[in-house]
Amino acid sequence: MTRIALALVLALTLVAGSASAERVNLLCSPDLAWCEALGPAFTEATGIPLEFIRVSSLDALARIRAEAANPVFDAWFGGTGDPHLIAMREGVAEMFIPTVWDDLIPELKSVINEEYIPLYAGAIGFVVNEEVLGDLPLPRTWRDLTDPMYRGLVGMPDPTSSGTAYTTLATLLQIFGEEEGWEIVEGIHMNVAQYTSSGAAPGQLAGRGEIGIAVQFMHDGVKFAAQGFPLTTYAPEEGVGYEIGGISLIANAPNRDAAIQFIEWALTPEAQAIAGEQGESFQIQSNMNTVQHPLAPNFDEINLIDYDFDRWGDPAVREEVLNTWLNEIFIIPR
Ligand code: G6P
Repeated sequence: MTRIALALVLALTLVAGSASAERVNLLCSPDLAWCEALGPAFTEATGIPLEFIRVSSLDALARIRAEAANPVFDAWFGGTGDPHLIAMREGVAEMFIPTVWDDLIPELKSVINEEYIPLYAGAIGFVVNEEVLGDLPLPRTWRDLTDPMYRGLVGMPDPTSSGTAYTTLATLLQIFGEEEGWEIVEGIHMNVAQYTSSGAAPGQLAGRGEIGIAVQFMHDGVKFAAQGFPLTTYAPEEGVGYEIGGISLIANAPNRDAAIQFIEWALTPEAQAIAGEQGESFQIQSNMNTVQHPLAPNFDEINLIDYDFDRWGDPAVREEVLNTWLNEIFIIPR
């Protein structure tokens, strides 16, 4: 081969190599509309193509763990924080300090001990279709939800797939303690018409009138109401837990540099504004400079519990909670 031909082959190889490295494979755990809006905006800003699949928080963690020896995905966007924390602690995700770190809301970083990168925050609540409840009173407390008058009227996600549902269980166990907490979980289970695999789905069922009360993140209820469904969203009197949704780099990501560029971009005020403007997602965004959407529930007006992210993000605690739910609650016929 002549020198010129060799140089040409080498140049082509380099171009092909860099082109194939320039992409992001994303696991995306918030609502589909937000996930769909990310790729085009990121590609426009950086020229890097992005593909995603939408997977609920705990399913995403399961997938990252299963692929740890040979990762397929580069980054994980959103979903409740507990599984991001677990992924960091197990080494299947990699912490790094993005350039915008100092612009992220300090409280969101400190309550999770800076163990992963906060993307947004949202509080659990009740999302109620008053038309379906008819003459029944609105449930005002967690205990109200156990009242047999709501049999077949409640919907919540499945804790084995959904981070929303895990946050709900952890909330009840923190407010009421183990014994009373599980008693309330059992009482709610007796009234559940349907467990959904994703966190936001119960609000859709309530919006369509298939159930009367959805237990999920308040911003999801606000979103369905904004879409025109007859839904009222509020927090029960005893208080509510909350999520600090994460964004993480997968350990040994095949497209590590592009993934870091994506995470840096996703934390900018411009990218975070996409959540509400194009993705119809009304969480509180983590960058202090992001203009929060007017429909984002205001944490100052919600009775938030002092959620212990360290304890409830512990893999052993999570395993125990899910096993108890599966073996002692879910099996009870209703
Ligand atoms: C919804 C919420 C997000 C939350 C996510 C968790 O999309 O809007 O704030 O992080 O649910 O999803 P999951 O399906 O795991 O409950």
